[in-house]
Amino acid sequence: MTNTYTNRNTFAITTPLYYVNDLPHIGSAYTTIAADTIARFHRLQGRSVLMITGTDEHGQKIERTAQSKGRYPKEHCDLVFKGFESLWQKLNIQYDRFIRTTASNHQEIVKEFFQRVWEQDDIYLSQQQGWYCVSCEEFKEERELGEDKYCPIHTNQKVEWRDEENYFFRLSKYQEQLQAFYQEKPEFIQPQSRRNEVLSFVNKGLQDFSISRVNVNWGFQLPIDSNHTIYVWFDALLGYVTALLDPDSEPTLENALLKWWPINLHLIGKDILRFHAVYWPAMLMSANLPLPKRVFGHGFLTKDGKKMGKSLKNTLDPFKLIEKYGSDAVRYYFLKEIEFGVDGDFNETRFINVLNADLANDLGNLLNRTLKMAHKYFNGQIPNIDGEEVEVTHPLKTIGISLGEEVTQTYGSLVFSQVCEAVLILVRNCNKYIDETAPWS
Ligand code: MSP
Repeated sequence: MTNTYTNRNTFAITTPLYYVNDLPHIGSAYTTIAADTIARFHRLQGRSVLMITGTDEHGQKIERTAQSKGRYPKEHCDLVFKGFESLWQKLNIQYDRFIRTTASNHQEIVKEFFQRVWEQDDIYLSQQQGWYCVSCEEFKEERELGEDKYCPIHTNQKVEWRDEENYFFRLSKYQEQLQAFYQEKPEFIQPQSRRNEVLSFVNKGLQDFSISRVNVNWGFQLPIDSNHTIYVWFDALLGYVTALLDPDSEPTLENALLKWWPINLHLIGKDILRFHAVYWPAMLMSANLPLPKRVFGHGFLTKDGKKMGKSLKNTLDPFKLIEKYGSDAVRYYFLKEIEFGVDGDFNETRFINVLNADLANDLGNLLNRTLKMAHKYFNGQIPNIDGEEVEVTHPLKTIGISLGEEVTQTYGSLVFSQVCEAVLILVRNCNKYIDETAPWS
């Protein structure tokens, strides 16, 4: 199948599909804020944009959480999913598609995709032995674990030993094809440090991974064996494809991939890089589909140096933060103050200081005095001034003229802090200009 939509000015961006084991925390909000900001930027540039977000609802982690709360899994998902919807609304996220992996059209897409991979002879039955972290929904290598067998990411969770029959995907078959792909498309994995991580992982030699489970009921049944359910990650990654279906179109791969495929940017956290930068392209190669353009793995929001998370219970409640400070303040702080790509600690004092300095003092002050002057001297009307008439040597014009280009470039490389800083320089200089020219006198 080829993409028929070639000459295009479209931009499709995804957030990860969030696990519904608990209500969203500020870490999940972080990726979504960044994705929404990028989507808005591309819309402003005149592109047709599709921003995709959603929830990842199958698997053992969700099955167990539901059980511990005395709920049926679907009942649990329906409850928690609403929390994500409501947070995105409060954060003013303008998404176009919200995919839930329990949707019936998603099942059809997963079935069709599975069939394709099966027909390539890329799936076989074998024995899976290893240490499994249910919170990551991932097998861990022995050397990653401490003596007491705790997960390196969920440091309060012990991994569990598994020894069972699973179906495997022949990842090893795609080793060379993947290496060639990374070589040919050096921009595929970003930032560079994450790309290095992936290259070194792949260069060590890829092993096939299991894509079915016998001990988990909460998942789609394997089309070729009703004793197995599909591994949650194999199912979840395909959510990005299902999300592309128009609401009333028949759920086929062909329909889904017609307009927006391949995705321009998968925005993710660094913990799920391997899935997006290795497993996902290999699955797509097997199904003979074009590959996404770019995967960007950002860092973690940390508290006292540890990843904030639902499993570690050290999170910040985004609802409370928004209620107290407003969504613009929250969005601004995370983009301006945490370098996109590396970890950053959240500190409420710093948060308040930044808001006061940048938004209240610099921007707020400029807005306030400009409005006041417009009322006082121009009857509340903005005078019609042609930019061409302003001298090129005017200090504000010099900054303003290059600002568009600078912001476009820094947005392109996702350096949000610099985008904010560039705009702030103009704001500060405007204030300075008003101080120096003192129009009131
Ligand atoms: N369900 C999978 C993703 C499937 S995508 C097809 C998953 N879900 S998650 O809810 O556990 O995490 C979703 C995203 O939130 C990940 O990108 C993860 O990195 C991000 N974050 C979770 N905690 C975070 C922080 N403390 N800081 C920044 N991002 C964090 O993984």
